[in-house]
Amino acid sequence: MTVVHSWGPPPPSAMPGTTLDRHILERQRQTPGATGDFSGLFQQISLAAKLINSRVRQAGLAGMLGLTGQTNVQGEHVQKLDEYANNVMIRSTEAGGHLCLMASEEDDEVIKIPERFPTGKYVLLFDPLDGSSNIDVGVTIGTIFSVHRRVTMGRAGTLADCLQRGSVQVAAGYVLYGSSTMLVYSTGDGVHGFTYDPSVGEFFLSHENLRVPTQGSSYSVNEGNTSRWSDGMKRWVDWLKEEDSETHRPYGARYVGSLVADFHRTLLKGGVFAYPSDSKSPAGKLRLLYEASPLAFILESAGGIASDGTRRILDIQPKELHERTPLILGSRDDVNIALDFLQGRR
Ligand code: AHG
Ligand code: MN
Ligand code: MN
Repeated sequence: MTVVHSWGPPPPSAMPGTTLDRHILERQRQTPGATGDFSGLFQQISLAAKLINSRVRQAGLAGMLGLTGQTNVQGEHVQKLDEYANNVMIRSTEAGGHLCLMASEEDDEVIKIPERFPTGKYVLLFDPLDGSSNIDVGVTIGTIFSVHRRVTMGRAGTLADCLQRGSVQVAAGYVLYGSSTMLVYSTGDGVHGFTYDPSVGEFFLSHENLRVPTQGSSYSVNEGNTSRWSDGMKRWVDWLKEEDSETHRPYGARYVGSLVADFHRTLLKGGVFAYPSDSKSPAGKLRLLYEASPLAFILESAGGIASDGTRRILDIQPKELHERTPLILGSRDDVNIALDFLQGRR
């Protein structure tokens, strides 16, 4: 005789949510020909996120603040957490047999898979710790990653496998070490956000099918660079500050200084983020392959726009591993107005 539980199904709140692993596996099952390679890689990226998160949350206690004394290929002082996060991303993913190559903001050259490990069909590019200048002051930082399918043959991948347009990415994502720790990713068919529950040690689905509003109410730029901006950029920002209730101006100014944090707010609430080219950085400051490209992929999957001021970010053919790009991204209506100013139509 089957026992019927008189108390009925548990309330939703008591039901365990959808973990990141389950979400990825369910999508794997819906993908014809999927081998599980991608799911395996994602599980390793998720582990790296948990390990980095643990150190971020105790940075001051774990001797993780301050500088290592080295400078990286970007000419930036390397923070201890930069180095730790970089090592964790590499160690967590190099042995799984899913990758033929990696590339990191922190490494001059591509990162080869050690001979003792099998290689696979994907390439992983990442900014292991984004927002380094905010580490020591307890402000939100993140990790950004991009996954491409290799285009070369043979055991080891080559630079050509890294220098691919953003539009052909297999997946892109970021981890936000903020008031809560979140992992947001897209494979191109929707953007999904997971919140980390440290008491369980898992990421649970909390933001399914994120869509960026067509217009927002904030702009995110480093106004300290104003004197270096083009005339169009100056006129656009001045326009945003004018009083005009019909066009919901002035916009609010929001600038964290960690790209992942400014991006995440723009994705959820709309608005526009811009780090344009200027007289000091004619090619812009942000890096194409492991900052602009993955975030543009996510944003377009959520209905937004990401441009370098003249071209769609995802159409840019990378020429060098650490090449930089101007970046304007956010809500469709807001970015189109920015481009009108930047391209001289207003
Ligand atoms: P990273 O810490 O990986 O070098 O990235 C820092 C970037 C990005 O996170 C942020 O949007 C930008 O630098 C801020 O630059 P400014 O401090 O010049 O505004
Ligand atoms: Mn960065
Ligand atoms: Mn970084």
